[in-house]
Amino acid sequence: MSNWRHKPQTDDELNELVVPVKQIIRWLKTRRGFIIGVGILKGGTGKSTSVLYLALYCALVLNLDVAVVDTDDNSQSISRWYAQHLAMGDTIPFTLIEHPTKGKDAISLKKRLRSLRDQHDVVIVDLGGGDKETFIDLCEQARLLLMPSAPSGWETDRIQATLQTASKAARINQDGLDVYNFFVKCDFTSTLAEEEREAMAVDLSEEDEDFVPPPFLHPYFDISKAPHHIRAWSFIPKRGELEEWGLLVRHAMKGIIEEDEAA
Ligand SMILES: Nc1ncnc2c1ncn2[C@@H]1O[C@H](COP(=O)(O)OP(=O)(O)OP(=O)(O)O)[C@@H](O)[C@H]1O
Ligand SMILES: [Mg+2]
Repeated sequence: MSNWRHKPQTDDELNELVVPVKQIIRWLKTRRGFIIGVGILKGGTGKSTSVLYLALYCALVLNLDVAVVDTDDNSQSISRWYAQHLAMGDTIPFTLIEHPTKGKDAISLKKRLRSLRDQHDVVIVDLGGGDKETFIDLCEQARLLLMPSAPSGWETDRIQATLQTASKAARINQDGLDVYNFFVKCDFTSTLAEEEREAMAVDLSEEDEDFVPPPFLHPYFDISKAPHHIRAWSFIPKRGELEEWGLLVRHAMKGIIEEDEAA
């Protein structure tokens, strides 16, 4: 499986790009409550599937205590996936937290995340595609925002608006927010991802002057459209199927960890 855009030729080159597994585990365990948001202001791009793989990678491969927060009142995909697998007797290696955004049990995402911070090593938040208010709340709290979309103008069309909203909200984020925008559902035998990345660069360069880009935008690893992603609704992905997600996480976290350790 080749999910890198400029394939490193040697192990040394790869290690330059990603944080070592041992370092990421040590850092996350010491720090606790690291918040990763998965969101883009568009439905159906692959957010919940990404949340599932990220949570499984962190729990099964990194052996971390992981919570997943489902903020999506409409589809509730992760909650429904969770309930279904519990009923099937599967062992699910992360804790699910349902976060209704409406109704009598609703509390702000800020309050929810504050109460979760010291209880888990990593908190991964699944955002609905349309709920801007929750998205803004998340951008104020999270350290990392992962923004998945397919390499298609139908989906990347919303990236500019999402980045604008994220960067505005990130201004009051005390730790700073890094945004990692990547493609899922990639067919690595075609050049779709490269074509789309080029089209996006042109779109973003034409943005109005008052657009302040998010602090950190460094896509490098993309995710395949391997069929296990689609089957994951019924079959919990296997360890080997999590590896491409591991590279993505280790790449997205490298700058954050190095900056923190240097401080
Ligand atoms: N890497 C992938 N490869 C192939 N198909 C994928 C991949 N990721 C997601 N999909 C498919 O894309 C569809 C949408 O995925 P998903 O439900 O994760 O999106 P979402 O952004 O959470 O949607 P919503 O906005 O409704 O919450 C599903 O059919 C899913 O199986
Ligand atoms: Mg979803």
